Amino acid sequence: MVGPETHPVKFEYILALGSNVGDRNFYLDQAISGLARLGTVRATTRRYETWPILIRAQGKFLNQGVWLETTTEPEALLGQILALEKEIGRIPRIKNGPREIDIDIVWFSGGTFRSAQLHIPHPFNRAREWVRQIMCELKPDAIDPEVGLRYARIRGRTIMNIQDFAKKKSLGEKIAVVTCYDYAFARLLARTSIDAILVGDSLGNVMQGHANTLPVTVEEMVYHARIVRRGAPQAFLIVDLPFLSYQTSVRDAVANAGRIIKETGADAVKLEGLFLPQIRALIKSGIPVMGHLGFTPQSLLAFGGYRVQGKTPSSAENILRAAAALEKAGVFAIVLEMVPTELAGRVTASLSIPTIGIGAGDLTDGQVLVLNDLLGLDPDFSPRFVRRYANLSASVISAVEQYAADVRERKFPNEQERF
Ligand code: KIV
Repeated sequence: MVGPETHPVKFEYILALGSNVGDRNFYLDQAISGLARLGTVRATTRRYETWPILIRAQGKFLNQGVWLETTTEPEALLGQILALEKEIGRIPRIKNGPREIDIDIVWFSGGTFRSAQLHIPHPFNRAREWVRQIMCELKPDAIDPEVGLRYARIRGRTIMNIQDFAKKKSLGEKIAVVTCYDYAFARLLARTSIDAILVGDSLGNVMQGHANTLPVTVEEMVYHARIVRRGAPQAFLIVDLPFLSYQTSVRDAVANAGRIIKETGADAVKLEGLFLPQIRALIKSGIPVMGHLGFTPQSLLAFGGYRVQGKTPSSAENILRAAAALEKAGVFAIVLEMVPTELAGRVTASLSIPTIGIGAGDLTDGQVLVLNDLLGLDPDFSPRFVRRYANLSASVISAVEQYAADVRERKFPNEQERF
């Protein structure tokens, strides 16, 4: 008797090829013809030049994506790929060093796969924008299993989670953070590769016109964070806990941070200083916390003004100790504001979580700037540590003057601009 016909299961794989030694095009061609012996090559992408993630000095890779269909299971395919790399002429060198050919399995139709030898998706996927590009060329509708969104939707964006902060530090990748307070700018930031958005209580200064951040309320933070989230639905969003929303008690801290997370869709909160019981309670409740040391604006009155912190040996020691305590309490990153560069470097070197500097020099793991400052929106505010990447105040003033003049001179609206 003949039983029911069984068909072997076909797996689809997306492979990322790379070469940065010798004739890179030759090695990629060899890899593609070798892969064609292991299954059906359904499609290949164009070739991309990219920098290596870890050791930049080794020179750029030439990369290409391949869509392979085969009945081979993931681990067996890995074995075949390693043999193919050897056959093509890959010479064993240091880990993550230069290579004639490298073939990584970055995606497969089964979603995720974990064994001692193999992780699919590949652990470096998140850090490699070009992997998202090849996924978009080959399978734009496939879901990134780590993010839960279609590749077509996440290309060009850095989708962070709290583990990625420490991962980026360990890979030596700098982290770029910017503040934002409204929907219009959030929509623009959503089109950039910024790593995280901070709804800072600096909104007290830049949006509300107060002299400092002290008057800002939880209600106002919720309002601004909600509209930022609406404009940047996928961004890693951190929201400041405002003055006296957490200093007063552990209970207040959990209630206010919980409210912010629930009502705004934020990914984390930030709080200033060394409020360890509060931080521990928040983390225990499942709320990721970013720390903030050095000049902490909510303590402006106690500091007696906007002053660089950590200039004396004892205050530097205090900051170093506070950073260690924050790391131990479980914060995922620490903002270091207005501290000497050398101290920021020491703090950064002493931690495995990243430091994000503002007015703290170039030795931190990342930087944060107030969006309005980097865009040059306030002609009267330009502290030493801000770099203006645009002069929007001048553009706004001149655009509005031009509009007013056109109205007065009856030049606006013209024939095309009316019904
Ligand atoms: O409120 C804010 O914008 C901040 C940044 C300056 C770090 O805390």
